[in-house]
Amino acid sequence: MLNVAVIGTGNIGKIHTNWYAQNPNAKLVALCDMIPESVDPVAQQYGVPAYYDVEQMLAKEEIDAVSVATAGEENGGHHYEPAMAALRAGKHVLVEKPISNNIEHARELVRTAKENGLLLGVNLNHRFTPAAARAKQLQTDGQLGDVLFVNMALWINNPNESSPWFHMRALHSHSIDVMRYFGGPIRRVQAFMHKAPGRNTWSNASVNVQFASGAVGHLTGSYDASMHHPIERCEVAGANGRFVIENVYQRLEFFPRKSPEKLVVENPIMGGMGNFNETFKNRIDRFVEQVAAGGPLDGSGEEGLAAQEVIEGAIRSWENGTIEEVNG
Ligand SMILES: NC(=O)c1ccc[n+]([C@@H]2O[C@H](COP(=O)([O-])OP(=O)(O)OC[C@H]3O[C@@H](n4cnc5c(N)ncnc54)[C@H](O)[C@@H]3O)[C@@H](O)[C@H]2O)c1
Repeated sequence: MLNVAVIGTGNIGKIHTNWYAQNPNAKLVALCDMIPESVDPVAQQYGVPAYYDVEQMLAKEEIDAVSVATAGEENGGHHYEPAMAALRAGKHVLVEKPISNNIEHARELVRTAKENGLLLGVNLNHRFTPAAARAKQLQTDGQLGDVLFVNMALWINNPNESSPWFHMRALHSHSIDVMRYFGGPIRRVQAFMHKAPGRNTWSNASVNVQFASGAVGHLTGSYDASMHHPIERCEVAGANGRFVIENVYQRLEFFPRKSPEKLVVENPIMGGMGNFNETFKNRIDRFVEQVAAGGPLDGSGEEGLAAQEVIEGAIRSWENGTIEEVNG
């Protein structure tokens, strides 16, 4: 049984809390938020103690692993301190994305976990779906063949204007991670960006990448899109065929290169994923399972960091008009 706690009980921390509470191999032992009005009702609902200070919770409770679901600048500015405190206290950590909006902090978190033999995961939940798992199987079975190109799009609506790079740093951990999941490490990046009328943030981006394998990839990203329609599309072409994952988990289609027959895997209405919230369940269940097994983790800190390295490269590329080398 893994004793877990959640730090940050806003919208997303509540989702983590719910899925830990439903996992038969995890025991939710405490919740922490610096705002008592945020944590008190949730702690009461789940019958666990509420803390308003991370260090106090770590000192007092028997905890194996924590989720860090804080937010902050570019939705990642508050992750570093509580995640670092948990690692220093010898806890495994699942941090929300982005691992940090500050690349130095992200690197330090990964380094600290490694030095202390602890498991650090990032909530890269968009790839924790049956559709992505089936697509991965097509790849490992050799049906896809060597990856040639990846065509990724992630578009949602977010009017937040708090930073010029909010769209890039807060959102694209997900899309770059999915690209890396199928295409492998990324070595070169080039980006163009566009502000929607009236916006101060670079709310649209067109990002080209080259993978270490030599394969090429592209991301179209936007914070000016509808939430009433699909938010994501991932197309991966290999030497033996091409697949498309529609809208994170709704449909996988595979087009074999040498056959007119295609494979279609729909999200079943019986037993399939009910909604986006269940990507968190899959991710958290896997975290619990893999921490209990001593690792390694899918969606690791290294992978979360690699995605942020690509994002920083894209930002530098757009600022300087360059093609950037990255350790992504
Ligand atoms: N994976 C996904 O699909 C997905 C979707 C949306 C948001 N997110 C991520 O989830 C995270 C949280 O988002 P949110 O909307 O719930 O934010 P939020 O602002 O609603 O909640 C964050 C909470 O953390 C608390 N907090 C901050 N620093 C703290 C500290 N040091 N100790 C204790 N509590 C602290 C705040 O008081 C707040 O209640 C963000 O990083 C965001 O990027 C992920």
